Amino acid sequence: MPANEYARRRSAVLKKIGKESLAIVAAAPERLRNRDVHYPYRQDSDFFYLTGFPEPEAIAVLAPGAPQGDYLLFCRPRDPERETWDGRRAGPQGAEKHYAADTAYPINELDEHLTELLANRRRVYHTLGERRALDRRLVKWIRQLQAQNRKGIEAPTELYSLDPLLHEMRLIKSATEIKLMRRAAEVSAEAHCRAMQVCRPGMMEYQLAAELHYQFERNGMSQAYGSIVGGGENGCILHYVENDAELGDGDLVLIDAGAENAGYAADITRTFPVNGRFSDAQRAVYNVVLNAQLAAIEQVRAGRHWNRPHEAAVKKLTEGLVDLGLLKGKVADLIENEAYRRFYMHSTGHWLGMDVHDVGAYKRKGKWRDLQPGMVLTVEPGLYITPAKDVDKAFWNIGIRIEDDVLVTKGDPDVLTAGVPKHIEAIEKLMAA
Ligand code: GLY
Ligand code: MN
Ligand code: MN
Repeated sequence: MPANEYARRRSAVLKKIGKESLAIVAAAPERLRNRDVHYPYRQDSDFFYLTGFPEPEAIAVLAPGAPQGDYLLFCRPRDPERETWDGRRAGPQGAEKHYAADTAYPINELDEHLTELLANRRRVYHTLGERRALDRRLVKWIRQLQAQNRKGIEAPTELYSLDPLLHEMRLIKSATEIKLMRRAAEVSAEAHCRAMQVCRPGMMEYQLAAELHYQFERNGMSQAYGSIVGGGENGCILHYVENDAELGDGDLVLIDAGAENAGYAADITRTFPVNGRFSDAQRAVYNVVLNAQLAAIEQVRAGRHWNRPHEAAVKKLTEGLVDLGLLKGKVADLIENEAYRRFYMHSTGHWLGMDVHDVGAYKRKGKWRDLQPGMVLTVEPGLYITPAKDVDKAFWNIGIRIEDDVLVTKGDPDVLTAGVPKHIEAIEKLMAA
């Protein structure tokens, strides 16, 4: 990400919050995995979006018109001994030089500078509830300023969340962001192709997961979220993450996995037969889901509202369920009373970006908002058929989802994840090669 993109984002926030305000954004904390072992560090998406700063224990402050500059960064000081053990730190000097802070301070000086910076500002933008210790400190700073009221110092009186403002910005992707997402999508698509090619009955689910992760990591990427590799009945568990069962001959396997590239996620699901050939029942259900997905993608157009893809998918899925004999009745009624939810219990997509379930409002004043160029969303209908007396045995334990990442453009939907096949003939051909 070029440095001027971060600068552009900060300027936009500075302009929107205005002179009488101050915004505080915190880095993600390190988290313990067990005893003294940490989880791999992942920076907070909002903080990273505004700073590009990769370290924990850091606070960004946007203070329009402050004497030290508009953009202040508090971070860990350099410490040769700690750095020998834990890795390099930018330090305040590095933060100014490499991350374009107007002024940077050691993080332990936060209290003294913040009271000063908050004095005589009316509004504070800070998202409450995420970092309890920081919330408490903010209250303390404000109380301190209130106590100085007789000296003529005014304390802030209005507290706003930065989320709506920042998340609207994050929702519309820039050309650079789209490039990063396209690359995440390409590598994720290659990984799914690889999984299709190496899959054999008798393999373990985690072995397929390893093939995907190998492809991510050799491209310098990581998992955007915990990969799901579910064979047979495990494909009917929406958030199945154990990935520890054997893949059976005659079963389908559902893989939901995506790479994260420089902080931007891909999110792909494919479902294919472990042995490379769809059975008749699998083929029939698969084509219902595929038709629903194609119809939904067709609705991803600027000016159509958020829920149009879901409505299109529900219609095709319900028609398909009636054709398969899994639902009985009139399609319009089955949609109206949500009978399809027995087999399709999730929604058809979500925003995608730095977070896999990315930020941004879905409604405006109670109504679904319209799609705009630069938005990226997933389209992921599915059908999940668990054993039941009133269901033909041939369909038992078939779980199918097909998920692509789609960029809204001025024209046709741009499917970023088109590199991995989803039509039955193409999947069977790739698996036979
Ligand atoms: N992988 C999470 C989702 O598809 O929403
Ligand atoms: Mn998804
Ligand atoms: Mn997914």
